[in-house]
Amino acid sequence: MANPPYIVGNWKMNGTRAMLAEARAIDRAASRLRDVQVALAPPFTLIHAMREAVNDIGIGAQDCHVRPSGAFTGDISAPMLVDAGAGFVIVGHSERRAMHGETDAIVRAKAEAAQAAGLGIILCVGETEAERDSGEAEAVVTRQLAGSLPQGEEATVKLSVAYEPVWAIGTGRVPSIDDVGAMHRAIRARLAATYGEAGGDVRILYGGSVNAGNAAELLAADEVGGALVGGASLTAESFTAIVVAAVSGRE
Ligand code: 13P
Repeated sequence: MANPPYIVGNWKMNGTRAMLAEARAIDRAASRLRDVQVALAPPFTLIHAMREAVNDIGIGAQDCHVRPSGAFTGDISAPMLVDAGAGFVIVGHSERRAMHGETDAIVRAKAEAAQAAGLGIILCVGETEAERDSGEAEAVVTRQLAGSLPQGEEATVKLSVAYEPVWAIGTGRVPSIDDVGAMHRAIRARLAATYGEAGGDVRILYGGSVNAGNAAELLAADEVGGALVGGASLTAESFTAIVVAAVSGRE
């Protein structure tokens, strides 16, 4: 694998300044490890303070608006994220697709807005339990990618895709390693079809109930280039254990 594993913590709607201590501890641990790339995506309100508090890890956001500015009360644009110190943004998380009605077209527009602002992107896809049970998982994910991958010359620059089965998020359930590998191979094939050779450089992360106990095995699955971690990224103790597992799995 050319790239080191990319281990990203998505804090979702969790965290106040009191939790910056956890970010500092994660940063200290990550700075002692080689061959792994670590990042946190806190809520908007913590991006600037967290960027100032850490040295080595990446800091990103969990969403952005499709437009750079304007009359969009309560929204945050990609250039604003850059201004606050973010280096990347998560787009298309299933919680936003489900609770904010984000379609593939909106997710694509957000990804392209983020790229125009110079941000890295983690674009999320994943099937529901009903879709998995009816044998449609790969078709659903392929369709999401076809509709939401950014277009344009520089589309693969700083692009990662995260495969997060909706039924594995926050449930303690994970797909079999074979199913993870099969889905990641299908995603790789779609990236190659969309971008040609450049599609080979896009990292594909797995997300959904990743913890210190299952991280090494999940990260060793075919085409898995990192992890997007929710609940287990909220403390330095649990997140650092995942980062350590990612490194030791490669030795
Ligand atoms: P959990 O790790 O809590 O299952 O969340 C995964 C996720 O949604 C990360 O974006």
